[in-house]
Amino acid sequence: MLLAEDILFGLIIVLLKTKLRIKNLRNMDSRTIEAVIPTAIPKERKVFVKLGYSKLETAEIVEAMNKLLASYCVHYQKLRNFHWNVKGGDFFDIHEKFEEEYNYAKSAIDEIAERIRVFGQTPLSTMREYLDHSEIKESGTDLTGLEMVSEILRDYETLLEQMFNVIEVSLNNGDSGTEDLIKGFVKQTEKKHWMFNAFTSH
Ligand SMILES: [Fe+2]
Repeated sequence: MLLAEDILFGLIIVLLKTKLRIKNLRNMDSRTIEAVIPTAIPKERKVFVKLGYSKLETAEIVEAMNKLLASYCVHYQKLRNFHWNVKGGDFFDIHEKFEEEYNYAKSAIDEIAERIRVFGQTPLSTMREYLDHSEIKESGTDLTGLEMVSEILRDYETLLEQMFNVIEVSLNNGDSGTEDLIKGFVKQTEKKHWMFNAFTSH
């Protein structure tokens, strides 16, 4: 008996909530409604993609990831360069911060390269390949501390653009694993961008 009353009470709550939601939706314009109710998963988005992808199926994803990987590797070496060669009053702050950043980049690089291996393909692995495919350019050793931070700030913007591209390609191909991996990097890189931007602001 108690169970039946619980079920009835639960049903009444659900009905009341539904009624309230419909009332709220009536008061919204169509754009707001689209934001509240997620659009249906596109048909081409696969619910589950088993491992053992064909080369053709992953070509677009691997190409986008390899470009990101190449940029990340040049960015990594720039951080090491700046860690070693920074001079001036901010030495201790910048020297230590860049070490933290290159350790993060090292881990991201490894994850991206190994994701490419998951698809049975070969990540770009030589310095020449990285320099040829990277959208980030190398730097010299004689920059001021502030110039180094500004360089890294621009690197983050380039990396974010490339990350968004990988996410878009992953979504188009129903690849939830890559999408999830890169979204994690986006969140962290956006935070780094804010911090480095704060450092260079007056
Ligand atoms: Fe060091």
